[in-house]
Amino acid sequence: MLSIEEQKRRAAETAVEYIENGMTLGLGTGSTVEYALQQIAEKVKQGMQLSGVPTSQRTEQRARELGIPLVPEPETVTRIHLTIDGADEADEQCNLIKGGGGALTREKIVASMSERVIIIVDSSKLKPSLGGFPVPVEVLQFGWKAAAEAVQQLGATRVDLRMAGDKPFVTDNGHWILDCQFDTFPDVGRIAQVFNTIPAVVENGIFYELCDLLIVAQPDGSVREIFAGVDSD
Ligand code: 5RP
Repeated sequence: MLSIEEQKRRAAETAVEYIENGMTLGLGTGSTVEYALQQIAEKVKQGMQLSGVPTSQRTEQRARELGIPLVPEPETVTRIHLTIDGADEADEQCNLIKGGGGALTREKIVASMSERVIIIVDSSKLKPSLGGFPVPVEVLQFGWKAAAEAVQQLGATRVDLRMAGDKPFVTDNGHWILDCQFDTFPDVGRIAQVFNTIPAVVENGIFYELCDLLIVAQPDGSVREIFAGVDSD
């Protein structure tokens, strides 16, 4: 039986098989993506021409340490061939909750400009429906409390300002994060849009119809590939 860590590595191994020479890659954030970064670095060492657009300062630093070339001016990028990222929760329709690592805004921007988005998860992350994991919502520091109240009006059962020790956690963009617990989402696509109509909300961690391929590593060592829009039964 594969441990969760072994499953993360296995999912990453499957994802990097989709990388082709010359690609601009969106580099996600998190412990699962760490395995993908290590394997991408191997491909670079073997001579593959690749350039990465990191979704966080943490990933940027890791890519530099591993010798993965980065796009010189990532803020000017408009098109990415393939993004490999993780998720905190995924459903069978390839919708996701992301942002446990606090990088959701850049992750969503990078995903939205990618021709293909591959999400890699261990088996514990695949759920019949989204909602177990609190939705991270990035907010401006000014107005965060009003935003938290507005999220509560949307039906959240609990809204917590994310902390780092005794201070609010600050994102790479200088903002704060609200972790918003819901029991269920009657319409996950709609709520993803509604979040962003709240003043002070920068972005939310519901990734609706943004993932093309969800790679789920199983405890028995097999890998399930769920393609968006394709009935897996
Ligand atoms: C960061 C993310 C990560 O992809 C998500 O938190 C999963 O991380 P991990 O692979 O460490 O479980 O969305 O903002």
